[in-house]
Amino acid sequence: SRTEVCPVASMEYPERKLYATQFHPEVRHTEFGQTMLRNFLFNVCELTPDWTMDSIIEDSVAAIREEVGEDRVILGLSGGVDSSVVAALCAKAIGKQLTCVFVNHGFLRKGEPEEVEEVFTKQFDVDFIHVHAEERYLELLRGVTDPEEKRRIIGTQFWKEFFAVAEDLADDGRPVKFLAQGTIYPDIIESGARKTGGKASTIKSHHNLIPFPEGVHFDLIEPLDHFFKDEVRALGTALGLPDYIVHRQPFPGPGLAIRIIGEVTAEKLEILKNADLIVREELDAYNERLFAETGERNSEHSVWQYFAALPDIRTVGVMGDERTYARPVILRAVESSDAMTADWAKLPYDLLGRMSSRIVAEVPGVNRVFYDVTSKPPATIEFE
Ligand code: XMP
Repeated sequence: SRTEVCPVASMEYPERKLYATQFHPEVRHTEFGQTMLRNFLFNVCELTPDWTMDSIIEDSVAAIREEVGEDRVILGLSGGVDSSVVAALCAKAIGKQLTCVFVNHGFLRKGEPEEVEEVFTKQFDVDFIHVHAEERYLELLRGVTDPEEKRRIIGTQFWKEFFAVAEDLADDGRPVKFLAQGTIYPDIIESGARKTGGKASTIKSHHNLIPFPEGVHFDLIEPLDHFFKDEVRALGTALGLPDYIVHRQPFPGPGLAIRIIGEVTAEKLEILKNADLIVREELDAYNERLFAETGERNSEHSVWQYFAALPDIRTVGVMGDERTYARPVILRAVESSDAMTADWAKLPYDLLGRMSSRIVAEVPGVNRVFYDVTSKPPATIEFE
């Protein structure tokens, strides 16, 4: 078949079972795309869709038990989807042989550290260690304004905190043999592609990224390394993880520290967390309304990632009879499917207005709200 711009958009050679397309049947907007894929898999390749989430969980649990035996496993829990699903899976497989280390850098969104702690102390029966590193991180970032420098400091400190706990654990006479990681299939592809300029053959090269201290070694287990993100989410739900973890938005490792432009201070963090909470409340509700209307998650206009950011400026305002000289907050809300490109979300004015009024009224220290109307490219989703 052909299109206006493509002389051969698809072709087939049924006798040899060869089929090719010059477009993306897997993309949501491709008409009959799913049907094409289904025909190819089930009619041409003669596969049967006979796996279930339960059988996948059983297989993964058995594989983890087999590999780990009686040994102990340590896992860095970030609060994100991937590490949480690995933790839930390992909890099911080996229970208290798993120690989850949650390094709290203080830059998660409001309420999230408490949620992580709640889930992995009350719901799952694992060893859970909450490392309160908030003060240390703030100290390390004092006076630092360069984005890359912030990222480097935060990343380096994570492993310091993590290995300090790992070494303590080793001292109690039951050494830890394994480190579990939430590596998912796209991570492997990406790191392979980065190292080799396109080939995914050196797929394990990302392992080198863990800066093991001198003399420290763990064998890695990566139970999600054959799953895509939506499968990881489905796995999480089947394992009983709450929706607020399973459907978490993408979130940068350095967290709110890179949504505070310039130096990070306790005062700015407090402002940002409170403003960000309002953005989430309003847009969560907006997405829920769209879901109720369309019956579809991620429908055409649902907002994919949304947050508040804090620029390094002050502006003049007036409240009551008083002149204020306070901080503006920037709202960011984008539609995207893979974060490679993104459109700024065309939110209704009344919704923007409500977020603005609420933030200025409810968050001390803020007197103005901006909405970012830039797409990616040329901007990025994050600010630093
Ligand atoms: P940008 O800002 O480059 O972001 O358009 C693309 C997507 O990646 C997320 N992001 C990160 N995720 N560590 C992460 O795990 C990071 O350092 C990081 N920086 C950006 C961002 O939230 C967006 O979804």
